Amino acid sequence: MEVLPSFLKGKLSPIMETRLLKLRNVKLLHFLEEAVDLCEPESVYIVEGTEEDISEIRNRALLTKEETELNVKGHTIHFDHALDQARAREDTFILGDRIPFVNTKPRKEGLEEVKSILKGAMKGRVMYVGLYSLGPVGSPAQILAVQITDSPYVIHSENILYRNAYREFEGDKDFLKFIHSKGSQDVKKRRIVIDLDGVVYSVNTTYAGNSVGLKKLALRLTLNRAVREGWLSEHMAIVGLEGSNGVHYVTAAFPSGSGKTSTSMMGRLISDDLAFIMGIDGDVRAWNPEAGVFGIIQGINSKDDPIVWKVLHTPGEVIFSNVLMTPERSAYWDGSGLPEPEKGINFSGEWWKGKKDDQGKPVPPSHPNARFTVSLKSFDNLDPNYDNPNGVKIDAVIFGVRDYKTLVPIAEAFDWEHGVVTMGASMESARTSAVIGKQDEMEFNPMALLDFISVPLGKYVQNYINFGKRLRNPPKIFGVNYFLKDGDKYVNSKEDKRVWLRWVVERLEGRSKALETPIGKIPLYEDLRRLFGEALGKEYSEKDYEAQFSLRLRGYKEKYERILDIYSKIDTPKDILHIIERQIQR
Ligand code: PEP
Ligand code: NA
Ligand code: MN
Repeated sequence: MEVLPSFLKGKLSPIMETRLLKLRNVKLLHFLEEAVDLCEPESVYIVEGTEEDISEIRNRALLTKEETELNVKGHTIHFDHALDQARAREDTFILGDRIPFVNTKPRKEGLEEVKSILKGAMKGRVMYVGLYSLGPVGSPAQILAVQITDSPYVIHSENILYRNAYREFEGDKDFLKFIHSKGSQDVKKRRIVIDLDGVVYSVNTTYAGNSVGLKKLALRLTLNRAVREGWLSEHMAIVGLEGSNGVHYVTAAFPSGSGKTSTSMMGRLISDDLAFIMGIDGDVRAWNPEAGVFGIIQGINSKDDPIVWKVLHTPGEVIFSNVLMTPERSAYWDGSGLPEPEKGINFSGEWWKGKKDDQGKPVPPSHPNARFTVSLKSFDNLDPNYDNPNGVKIDAVIFGVRDYKTLVPIAEAFDWEHGVVTMGASMESARTSAVIGKQDEMEFNPMALLDFISVPLGKYVQNYINFGKRLRNPPKIFGVNYFLKDGDKYVNSKEDKRVWLRWVVERLEGRSKALETPIGKIPLYEDLRRLFGEALGKEYSEKDYEAQFSLRLRGYKEKYERILDIYSKIDTPKDILHIIERQIQR
């Protein structure tokens, strides 16, 4: 492969040509051929991931006006179309057989449709080719991925969020494939099409949840593969909690906007969003597929989120999306605790205090799903093992929900199966702004990944159970809820998370006891009183305990009846149904 194939003639500079040919990767050439024929770009840019490359891509994002520089060095702002601000369920399809809970389309029809929209979409534009590794290079969790896009913003984001791995592509290695075009930004023609053979197409969207292929689009592919291969690809943070006997790493699943990023700031940060989890020699080990954070910014303030606050106010690479840019070119967002500016630029264009949209509704200064994109390396609490090819050993698994009415703040499962089924697979959570739809409605969202499920749910849950059965000593499982209310009032403050996580560590180390109840094991008042004092210097009364840990049994029973109903109607193994039935009986 010394000569350039004809489909690339005239599209590569000499430097780019050398970069590509040096890899001798025929599979990569075939993928480029498909993308070039389809999208008809003017030229092709191969991203090697050198420092010059990274700053060149950043400059191009500024030149195309996809990003604008802010007044802190390295900070930029990006805006998505006002109607393109979140995960787009209605426009996202998995190709092939029907899978309950997600949209599917016959393969031929789906491919024809998205390809007709992508046809010629990159005319007059540069096609960028990003080469990355999900998971640390050289780890059992390494999965290579190629992003093709005509958006420098998308590649800029991926250079921050993922591990550039140009060299790993030498030879004929396999990789996941992502083709994205910002298209004409016509939201009506937005399509995200997932071919489980390993290709994702996305067009007429720039919101990173839909355009940055390696995040939630890759999750559909890796989840499907994990179920086939007997490991777990999860929507989970990974965090190290210090105990008396050293650091205990835990994984934690929460629906978007329900405490995942803040939980990952409570200890040593490995991951804030995704985890590859494998059984190695009878232990559970986990890796972060990502190398950065694409986090929700609303509500981030200096008091509750000191670590993130510092990251967002220190020079260095940060992309803000859909926050307000003030006339001084600084970023403002709702819930920051700072006074609201009089005017600025936001996702709706020019913005002023009191602005209303077409329907007469007030336009907030920052979008509720506004975000920040930043490297893990910017965080003071980054764990040195974040890029360790051996991953970290997992001692506990947390399943968290946003439930205002019923679930206690924390409970421990009786065993692996009980936790997987009655905590993870039974998650129901109030909808947040990360998803288009009515806010605060309760949604069934097992393991916080219903949107990403790419195999039948029963099969997915069975794989989870089997995974634990093969382990020497399965991790303890905990269910948490940071959002319980008594009437209109939250029964906990934000910082109380610290106490629940301390309780997790004490349970692992055998220093706190637990009370067996029908729904699992809950903390004792004496332990919590001690932990509230130790962790927060707070008094903790029996009245607090009662408000938090009285079991709202009617609510629990109704919840598990709903869950049983859902699983009974799909193809669920009988043993799983029995675990739910036993919970209801208890
Ligand atoms: C998304 O799906 O929009 C996304 C980027 O993930 P999350 O909301 O979980 O951060
Ligand atoms: Na990178
Ligand atoms: Mn997420």
